[in-house]
Amino acid sequence: MAIAVHNEHTDAPVFLLHTPHSTYVIYIENGYLCHGGWFDRTEHWSGHCVCRHTDIGFSPNPPGHGDRRVFSLDTVMQEYPFAGRSDFRAPAFKAFFADGSHSADLCYKSFAIIKGKPQLTGLPAVYTEDESEADTLTIALADPLTGLTVGLSYTVFCAQDIICRHTIIINPAGAEPVMLNHAMSACIDFPDSSYRVLTLSGAHCRERVPFIRPLAPGVQQVFSRRGVSSHQHHPFMALLAEGAAETQGVVYGFSLVYSGNFIMQAEVDQCFTTRVTAGINPETFCWKLEPGNSFITPELVMVRSTHGLGGMSRAYHDLYRSRLCRGEWRDKDRPVIINNWEATYFAFNTEKLLTLADAAKQAGIELFVLDDGWFGERDDDFRSLGDWSANAKKLPGGLSALAQAIQSRGMSFGLWVEPEMVSENSSLFCAHPDWCLHVSGRTPVTGRSQLVLDLSRDDVVDYLISVFSETFASTPISYVKWDCNRHLTDVASAALPPDRQGETPHRFILGLYRLMDTLTRRFPHVLFESCSGGGGRYDPGILYYMPQTWTSDNTDAPSRVWIQLATSIVYPASTMACHVSAVPNHQTGRTAPLMLRFAVAAAGMFGYELDLTKLPQDECAEIQSLTARYKELRTLVRSGDLYRIQTPWHISGAADYAGGLFGSGDSAAWMYVSKDKSEALVTLVWLMPGANPAGRPFRLQGLDPAACYRVMPVWAGDDTIYDNLTLGGAELMHAGLFVTYQISYRQCLVLKLVKA
Ligand code: DGJ
Repeated sequence: MAIAVHNEHTDAPVFLLHTPHSTYVIYIENGYLCHGGWFDRTEHWSGHCVCRHTDIGFSPNPPGHGDRRVFSLDTVMQEYPFAGRSDFRAPAFKAFFADGSHSADLCYKSFAIIKGKPQLTGLPAVYTEDESEADTLTIALADPLTGLTVGLSYTVFCAQDIICRHTIIINPAGAEPVMLNHAMSACIDFPDSSYRVLTLSGAHCRERVPFIRPLAPGVQQVFSRRGVSSHQHHPFMALLAEGAAETQGVVYGFSLVYSGNFIMQAEVDQCFTTRVTAGINPETFCWKLEPGNSFITPELVMVRSTHGLGGMSRAYHDLYRSRLCRGEWRDKDRPVIINNWEATYFAFNTEKLLTLADAAKQAGIELFVLDDGWFGERDDDFRSLGDWSANAKKLPGGLSALAQAIQSRGMSFGLWVEPEMVSENSSLFCAHPDWCLHVSGRTPVTGRSQLVLDLSRDDVVDYLISVFSETFASTPISYVKWDCNRHLTDVASAALPPDRQGETPHRFILGLYRLMDTLTRRFPHVLFESCSGGGGRYDPGILYYMPQTWTSDNTDAPSRVWIQLATSIVYPASTMACHVSAVPNHQTGRTAPLMLRFAVAAAGMFGYELDLTKLPQDECAEIQSLTARYKELRTLVRSGDLYRIQTPWHISGAADYAGGLFGSGDSAAWMYVSKDKSEALVTLVWLMPGANPAGRPFRLQGLDPAACYRVMPVWAGDDTIYDNLTLGGAELMHAGLFVTYQISYRQCLVLKLVKA
């Protein structure tokens, strides 16, 4: 059992949640559910060390405690704090009751423990395949005045230092309706504030830049109010304890399994304790909870690592790769893809596509993806979203004829769609103008000249299920790229009454999840890749339905080093789609050597996105050989352990990031090591190659110290120092691999290590 209960048969049990290397303590004081800390594993806990900030001025005392003033909810560490009854820090729970008040009093009521992990109805979540993998503790709290109950769920993994939390709020039958405002997934209080906080923020084409800064009194937060998780902030936060870095020290990770408006915040209070809360962003949320109904929050996945940020990342990778992603493709090598977007944009016809397919086949590519522009009158991005039948001018034989022509060349066929959107210039909009998100009487705002369908409506979701079921069933499709190219404005629904309009953002996400769940279950053989102008919806919620995401619309290799390495802070390579594109790069204008473009794209689920028919013969031959080399590496990349050897950002200080330009690191290096440590892929890239550079050793990680490894260059240019080389695992990790910067003008070094 991962969960031990002391004082089990009293009204104040103590819960010790044991992961392999940590213990998370929950106890009850004066009837309230308190947090006892999350630290290195300990079997014994007396309660001696809990924070007792007695009689702090202006911190009030609940009834019955005013005479001695030793207990205040404002200073005690709690599990699910509520607003209005003396805790002035950020609440996890706040609701408006029938009388207009918002004070609750959530008191401990009961607990239950089960083996395994129950699923969350209607929401994506981590799962177990065998009930021996985890135990789940549920604690019930109740508000004596209104009868409202709150169920806190803690799933504790037996083999990983991971705890998953979510909350169920129940309004009992016979009570009055309640307006929920704060319904956080979880709260965790820390007794001190000596942490640096890491968040991932950015923009379109420069997603997930790591920002690291010290905590200070007040609130540090990231959030979305854009309707989706977004490029701008990410539903993730980490606290780095003193001394923590990439390979060492204690790091706490918080990753929210949600794709809509979220908030993650760390608040340092008057006693220098730190409160982390995470969940649906209350700024854009309210929910009318009728009597007899319940509300389930998204899940928060919490990791405690004693091996720095790298250890935290590998814990998330293992869990998300195998217990969040689902379906046939979860554990399978992914096909090498060619996508026609950057090759043709909207300007294609069948002949052009088939010429590209011929070149792709020649290069050993396995799957051809037809991107945007194949339907309605879609010759630009001003029209036709919603009209999902093939453009007769570009594809006179329809989609099936094209798909068959691709298949007859020995490749599979994939298709781009953007189901959630509608163009004003479309038959769908003419037929159903009220099906988009809009405020009655106001002209809705457009983004990329398109409107957003109201997925909070069941009839709209049902319609999309039937349209895309028909599209996917009538064409021999092996892959779908599911795009989403704008954020949500005018977030109101023609189908909801005024007192429920605040539910629209969350209902939209629930509708999206139902749509994705139905279609991905209906087409289990299809490999689904999500996309939102690149990585604008790269979150664990979407990964539950679709095992990979188009990482960024920025395909420039040096920019991608930043984006991909930062994405790897939470997500495994198996989820990251990465393509070799043309030079000069379409987003940055930079010309990177083909081998560098390959080395960077080969760090994820690999493909191409350029017009192969325009390349010189020798480059086509090289692409053919690179494709073959990736096929030999892809199992290792997809399933291996990632070690970030050198990041372009500095973990010891604030991320060096100036006005949209990437920071000062001149190089980056990473490794994938197979689980049995028999082989590894080592990649080093130079982001700012300089003249007359010196060499230096790079210390590798994750190898078997007792083994010897044969060094097999995948790419070392004409440098021969890596030929016929066998080195010790310990030697490579402690002394290092010497890298001559002489080769820096080639801008990368890619080596495979195989146990000798
Ligand atoms: C945005 C995507 O990220 C691109 O790859 C491409 O699919 C375009 N949309 C098409 O409109």
